[in-house]
Amino acid sequence: MIYLVTGGAGFIGANFLNYFVPKQKEDIFINIDNLSYSGNLLNVQNIEKYENYFFRNVDIQDYDGLKHVFNEWNPDVIIHFAAESHVDRSILSPLHFMKTNILGTFNLLELAKHFWKNKDRCLFHHVSTDEVYGSLKESGYFTETTPYHPTSPYSASKASSDHLVRAYCHTYDLPVTISNCSNNYGPYQFPEKLIPMTLSNFLNGKSVPIYGDGQNVRDWLYVEDHCQAIWHIIHNSEIGETYNIGGNNELTNLEVVHVLADILAAFTGVDPLKYLEQISFVKDRPGHDYRYAIDASKIKNILGWSPAESIQSGMKKTVKWYLDHQDWMEKVSSDEYQSWLKLNYSDREVSNG
Ligand code: NAD
Ligand code: DAU
Repeated sequence: MIYLVTGGAGFIGANFLNYFVPKQKEDIFINIDNLSYSGNLLNVQNIEKYENYFFRNVDIQDYDGLKHVFNEWNPDVIIHFAAESHVDRSILSPLHFMKTNILGTFNLLELAKHFWKNKDRCLFHHVSTDEVYGSLKESGYFTETTPYHPTSPYSASKASSDHLVRAYCHTYDLPVTISNCSNNYGPYQFPEKLIPMTLSNFLNGKSVPIYGDGQNVRDWLYVEDHCQAIWHIIHNSEIGETYNIGGNNELTNLEVVHVLADILAAFTGVDPLKYLEQISFVKDRPGHDYRYAIDASKIKNILGWSPAESIQSGMKKTVKWYLDHQDWMEKVSSDEYQSWLKLNYSDREVSNG
């Protein structure tokens, strides 16, 4: 099989490739990525030596660049991770999200439609998010039939791409599957997201910004569990199906930061209270969704997938990885990202909590 993996230099895509390239030596994996601020070849340096792995620096907004890759490889399976993925950035500069997440997906669908006219075994798997469903109150779960209600430019752009993927299946019989996953954590996550940012700031004595009162709830899933779920879908699902993927691990943001402080303290020998003193409650994210929670019974019942990691085991692995890879953290926290932060967040009111 020839797998075309988009966004394979980013967090989830790199974890996917790092796991499956060495394991599936008879298959070929083509990683296409434009190495934006969150994508880095450091994330896939361990698999560069494998003969079944190839990298192409291509922007999915560039139809001709993508066409060249399709001409070169005509892939059997496309696993579409590439996206602008950070909600805060989408609030401050939404245009990139529309171009990459909507137009980029459209380009890939058009090319798949064209190149797969006479192909029997092929599949376009679209990696999406639970944020397309909007926000939950205290109770209830997202199922695959929950109506879409995206509330940020990021989630609206992902919802648009989901609709496009389904439309290509319905109208042109393009073989597709879709997954909508909850919050991932684990190695190689860019330190703009809550967990790596918290660990980085704890270790560097910087304040840890918690939006609003820290009571927003997310359902956390260890990234390798997400990658395994995608593999199950690609190989065992019926065409046209959608699956929700989640960890059944609901925590408030404040609870997440406390868990991280405790685990980190156990490794470093520092008093966890010292880390907790670094928490600052800051102005809330505009339109901040209150709660996400996934009902993952469909993928469990139909495909037999359930997560292997508990929150404690997954977080322990994650904290250890970031402790052992502080040089990675420094290298990927580019000047570009630091100046973006300064430019956009200098007005945040900060109070210690
Ligand atoms: P990420 O930001 O870490 O990685 C995205 C990758 O896509 C980067 O390598 C980046 O360089 C690449 N990319 C961005 N724009 C591109 C373009 N125009 N052309 C080519 N490559 C481009 O994101 P992630 O957290 O790994 O998310 C991957 C996918 O999973 C996204 O589609 C996201 O919506 C989805 N998702 C993420 C989570 C999560 O918790 N992180 C949860 C559910 C779904
Ligand atoms: O639910 C899946 C989504 O999870 C993915 O689709 C997105 O790509 C991914 O980025 C993630 O989105 P979130 O907005 O939930 O992730 P983030 O790590 O940015 O924030 C997690 C929670 O922590 C959220 O409620 C906002 C809060 N937060 C975040 C940051 C960066 C803070 O309180 N302080 C912060 O500095």
